[in-house]
Amino acid sequence: MSDNLIEMNESGIKKAYARWAPFYDYTFGKIADAGRVEAVRHINQLYGHVLEAGVGTGISLPQYAPHIRVTGIDLSPEMLEIARKRAVRLGLDNVEAIKEMDAGNMEFPDAHFDVVIAMYVMTVVPDPKRVMRELSRVCKPGGEVILVNHFSQEFGLRGLMEKTVARFGDKLGWRPHFPMETVLVCDDLEVMQTRHLRPFGMFTMMRFKKLAQAEISQEDARQPKVA
Ligand SMILES: C[S@@+](CC[C@H](N)C(=O)[O-])C[C@H]1O[C@@H](n2cnc3c(N)ncnc32)[C@H](O)[C@@H]1O
Repeated sequence: MSDNLIEMNESGIKKAYARWAPFYDYTFGKIADAGRVEAVRHINQLYGHVLEAGVGTGISLPQYAPHIRVTGIDLSPEMLEIARKRAVRLGLDNVEAIKEMDAGNMEFPDAHFDVVIAMYVMTVVPDPKRVMRELSRVCKPGGEVILVNHFSQEFGLRGLMEKTVARFGDKLGWRPHFPMETVLVCDDLEVMQTRHLRPFGMFTMMRFKKLAQAEISQEDARQPKVA
């Protein structure tokens, strides 16, 4: 992987989340709830079919309003098992499907979803740029791609700590060192909002508008993209 990101592979991620699954909701699941609440509250003001990529244990699923149809995908069978049980237990009729699938190689056709969201996922996937392109591909023009994620700082004490902890990333199952530029790879995604979230601004919500083909050249002229 380029960009000095640590290598992560599919089998390592699956092993990490098989271990995490029974504890996830009581640990990271709780710490990171503010970002989910904020992002899903925004989606609930929209309409249509939402793809949640890296849905994990489905901790966010009960927060979607009944008029929002949700499909969730994830790599980890153990995380998905909890998500499926949750949807059944809570009678979440608006959850259309929960599927084992790689967000970097999705079986959905182009422009299939009105909103595509990935929460706390981009730091974890083997190839973030490929996933970003896939999230964009399956989103309808005029729709939104939303990320809730940790983005690292290059400088200061936090930057130093993140680079130090990064050495253990494969054991943790995520990359502490993860610059925002890593996700700015799609010509057809225009950044609409970048908002720091609780706790301590450690996480950021980024909202992108999926541009129609005709809008892309105008957008290119305004906003440099990272290759
Ligand atoms: C930190 S958890 C986040 C789960 C959930 N989105 C949340 O808000 O708690 C990251 C999830 O991404 C999943 N994941 C990692 N790589 C993936 C990929 N390439 N495709 C789909 N899911 C992936 C992991 O299995 C894990 O469930």
